[in-house]
Amino acid sequence: MAPPLQDQLAAIAARAADIANADARQLDDLKTELLGRKAGALTAILRSLPTLPPDDRRSVGQRANALRRDIEAAIEARHEALAETGRAHSVDPTMPGRARWRGALHPVTQVVDEICEIFRELGFARVVGPEAETEAYNFTKLNIPLDHPAADMHDTFYLAPGILLRTHTSPVQARVMEHYLPPIRVVVPGLCYRRDPFDPSHAPVFEQIEGLVVDEGVSFVDFKAAIDYFVHRFFARDTPVRFRPSYFPFTEPSAEVDVQCQICRGAGCPTCKQTGWMEIMGSGMVHPAVFEACGVDAERFTGYAFGMGPGRIALVRHGIPDIRMLYQNDMRFLEQFAE
Ligand code: PHE
Repeated sequence: MAPPLQDQLAAIAARAADIANADARQLDDLKTELLGRKAGALTAILRSLPTLPPDDRRSVGQRANALRRDIEAAIEARHEALAETGRAHSVDPTMPGRARWRGALHPVTQVVDEICEIFRELGFARVVGPEAETEAYNFTKLNIPLDHPAADMHDTFYLAPGILLRTHTSPVQARVMEHYLPPIRVVVPGLCYRRDPFDPSHAPVFEQIEGLVVDEGVSFVDFKAAIDYFVHRFFARDTPVRFRPSYFPFTEPSAEVDVQCQICRGAGCPTCKQTGWMEIMGSGMVHPAVFEACGVDAERFTGYAFGMGPGRIALVRHGIPDIRMLYQNDMRFLEQFAE
């Protein structure tokens, strides 16, 4: 014979006292043992109620139901308490944080920003212009007739008749002169496009930074002083610089600026093709025909302009052998330049 129901209930109540100290696993077990649908001890008693004599049914039923409510409340309370300690322990303030990849500026963007910053110190504003241009801005306003070999040389990507992807940032010279009165001092970073083969030293898309100064009394001496300042801030302070005569339709006189090769320090190496020098920009005094095309009084104003290639400069700075590496977006390569 099973013990009297009142004794069974007392045993269940005693067992339920363990709930207060149970861990998560024990709590589950106790719940099954006492309230389990199939074999719970209390469930069995509750289920047997209808078979009891009416007097027992009342007294046992009341006690059993009260006990069930108590046990359910105790289980619930223990659950809460366990969850609370779990939360408290899940934060370990002594654990080192996980470093997250934050992204970084592309090595060419870093060079562009640095160059613009140096020119900002000299009073140059940073402006931009459109990459899709008209023939007028890309060529004719810059004194490049469309049948001129220079137009050819630029091997242009045409988008539509008369509309093209700019082959240099010089069209922004014309846009700036048409919109602002002198004195003008701007640098213009941006992408340019030419139908060049994608090889170790050419990319069909590349950055340029245009510079333009227009004011009364600007001379080539001002240009040399600005470039000296720039070169010695950007490259090593004692880097030799030279100005070589050159030709551009939109400048007269024109010059190319070379700095001593940063890789071999002038001794000669494959990067500088054994010359010891690296060309960093084309430049010159703004041609009067350009002033005229842009509505600037060429009798009153003079100016200088330059265009440099920050992509090339990034190659030299980091000793990168192939320009294509800059544009393949291989994270293993790019990550090395994260600052
Ligand atoms: N636009 C020229 C080029 O792309 C560079 C340049 C700019 C030369 C300004 C002189 C003055 O080669």
